Amino acid sequence: MAKSDGGFNLFDAEERVLAEANALRESLAESAPDIRNGVESLTESYRRSVREQRRLVKVSDRLQNQLASVNQELARRKAEAEEALARLREAQETLVQAEKLASLGALVGGVAHEINTPVGIALSCASHLADSTAQMRALFEADDIGVEDFERYMETASDTSQLILANCERAAALIRSFKQVAVDRTSSERRRFDLAAYIGETLASLSPRVRQAGHKVTITCPPGLEVDGYPGALSQVLTNFVMNTIVHGYDPGQSGTLSITVDEPVAGQIRLVYADDGCGIADAHKNRIFDPFFTTRRGAGGTGLGLHIVYNLATGPLEGSLAVDSATGHGTRFTLTFPRQASGGTPPEI
Ligand SMILES: Nc1ncnc2c1ncn2[C@@H]1O[C@H](COP(=O)(O)OP(=O)(O)OP(=O)(O)O)[C@@H](O)[C@H]1O
Ligand SMILES: [Mg+2]
Repeated sequence: MAKSDGGFNLFDAEERVLAEANALRESLAESAPDIRNGVESLTESYRRSVREQRRLVKVSDRLQNQLASVNQELARRKAEAEEALARLREAQETLVQAEKLASLGALVGGVAHEINTPVGIALSCASHLADSTAQMRALFEADDIGVEDFERYMETASDTSQLILANCERAAALIRSFKQVAVDRTSSERRRFDLAAYIGETLASLSPRVRQAGHKVTITCPPGLEVDGYPGALSQVLTNFVMNTIVHGYDPGQSGTLSITVDEPVAGQIRLVYADDGCGIADAHKNRIFDPFFTTRRGAGGTGLGLHIVYNLATGPLEGSLAVDSATGHGTRFTLTFPRQASGGTPPEI
């Protein structure tokens, strides 16, 4: 509005100039026809120029109006896009929660399924033992126990109690591993530690098992590399890798080389590569090994929770990522990447 006011003021002034030019032309009427004609043609050009200016001002006004409405439209679309993004984020959050719940559901289902077998066996053994004991008591009260009855009872008692014990132990071991699935920051202590020294200590604690199986271990880690994070989580990860190599990597009697290589490809990012040169993991299994309860040794002591726990540790307390690279007959390689400094408060000095 202010602009077009300015325009009219401008044109008022021009109108005045035109009026003055007309007056001048009139006053020059007869006396100087040449000058009069000159003034007239100048006035005419000026008038044309004023017309042209007016037209340009109108065009500019129109363009400005159009620009304003385009801007309005843009602002509206931006608001719409922002709202859509917010809705998308909400939906994503809901999906993540749903996914977590679904995997929790699967885990709970798996726990129930896994624990059902040992608890079921222990239960039926206990009830068998209770029946036999009741029979013995009846015989005892009737003062009618023969040596054979007693021997049979002793055998039953010893067999069933052994089975009860073994199955309760299995159930307890399962419960211990289930508890580890729910790894979180608070479950392990954060501190600064020397990575090479810590890997050395962890492997030393595993060396009786490694040596027994006849494997060789090589560790390559820059000396003095200090990490601020969760050493407990790291040692659990390494222990699972090594135990898996021992249990799954080689045929009985066969041995190989386990290697741990650490570097810092990008400042602040640690890359730990654990590899063995064993039988490798079949393609069909590779994308299931991190699932809870996936094991190729079901019934032979495998629960299938080891790598699931490792994955949770890698992406949870260690704030990193984990990838597997393996092929049948070509060994197994896990690459764990994690920040040298965990986020959050600064831990105490070592
Ligand atoms: N180094 C390896 N070489 C060959 N196969 C492996 C190796 N590591 C893991 N696997 C395969 O991945 C599967 C899943 O491993 P994971 O540690 O989760 O379970 P598990 O060792 O079978 O049981 P758990 O660790 O609970 O006792 C194993 O059953 C095995 O088939
Ligand atoms: Mg395992």
